[in-house]
This record gives sequence, structure tokens and C-alpha cells, in this order.
Amino acid sequence: MASLMDKISNFFSGNDTDTEGLHGLFIHELRGIYYTETQLVDALAELADASTTDEVRNGFLQHQQETRGQVERLERVFRSLNLHVDDMTCDAVDGLISDARTIISDTESGSLTRDAALIICGQKTEHHEIAVYGSLVTLARVLGYTEATQLLDQTLQEEKNADKKLTQLAESFINQRAAGESDRTTPYRNDNDDDITTDGGMLDPTYRRSQDATLGGMSGI
Ligand SMILES: [Fe+2]
Repeated sequence: MASLMDKISNFFSGNDTDTEGLHGLFIHELRGIYYTETQLVDALAELADASTTDEVRNGFLQHQQETRGQVERLERVFRSLNLHVDDMTCDAVDGLISDARTIISDTESGSLTRDAALIICGQKTEHHEIAVYGSLVTLARVLGYTEATQLLDQTLQEEKNADKKLTQLAESFINQRAAGESDRTTPYRNDNDDDITTDGGMLDPTYRRSQDATLGGMSGI
């Protein structure tokens, strides 16, 4: 029996005439992405909880809701092929989630650098999902699974949009403000919400020292 790598190699080289093997490859990836999505529902809540700004927090919560819909859509894909809904551990997403937890522990709570880092973590998972869904759409099309092709392509477009939104968020103000943080000579940790302005910006610690709470936001923004 051909190994998984042989199946992938044969498929992309155009030498694959074994639709049973290709079906097996499709199921393998389908179960892996089902596991991925169910893990991400919880992981997205962790990213939201760790976020500094409302914009980033809401972005993760919105995608968490979308991800719940993607889990249900995958269950429809299984049913459309008369398959039991089943998952299979995916080391890739486990690694990405572990990486995100490390980044959360390595960045300052309440900083814009934290949000910039969380966006990177989010985009890593989106790119992984885009690769898997793109492959699944191609496989489903080759195998003639019409309904599965349509359902998987719908999720593929959602993942691409989620990735674009994260890029826009980073470019809109997060990265610029995070760059301002690295210019500071006084490191600060913000352990209470009073350090965060209503527009998501950080109170300058020199303002905090002068007790002038009316001055907030980062200069030059
Ligand atoms: Fe997803």
C-alpha cells in the first residue's frame, strides 16, 4: 500500500490513477482539519482573552463564531459522503497553538506588541487552514464530490477573508503603535485596565506618574 507521501507525490505529479488511494488521502486531510477546527474554537477564545485592544479581541471572537460554523460545515461534508464524523490528531495545529501560548507568556499583558504577536499567531493558523482547505477543494473536485467541493470552498473563502482582516487590523494601527512601544526607555507592565485608553491605546507611564489621567494615547498616533 502506498504511503501518504507517495500518494501526495503521485497526486501532484499527475501519476495518480488510484482513486481509492486519493479518497483515502482526502479522508485523512478531512479528519485532520476537523480536529484543527475543533481545537481552534477553544484556542481563539484564548487569543481573545489575551488581547489588548477591543478590535483584536472582537476579531478573534468573530472568527471563533465563524469557526463553529466551519465545524458544522465539515460535519455536512462527512454526511454528504456517508462517512462517520471523525477526527484525527493534527500535529501542525497542536504546534501552532503551543507556539501561541508561548508568545502570550513572552509578551507584556496590555501591550500593543502583544496584539501584534497575536495577529501573527492568528495568521499562521489561517495560512495552515488555507493550505489544507485549498488541497481538499482540489481533491474533492478531482474525486467528483460536488457537494463537498462547494462546502469546502465556502470555508476556504472564509479563511482567506479572515486572513485579510487580520492583515488590515495589523496595518491599521496595531503595528504602528507596537513600534512606538519599542521606543520607550521605561518598560511598563499594565496589570489593570486603567492603563488602556478607550480607543485601545496605552496610557504613557510618564502621564501615569504625574497622575494626570486625562492625558492618554501614544504620541504621534
Ligand atoms: Fe477555520
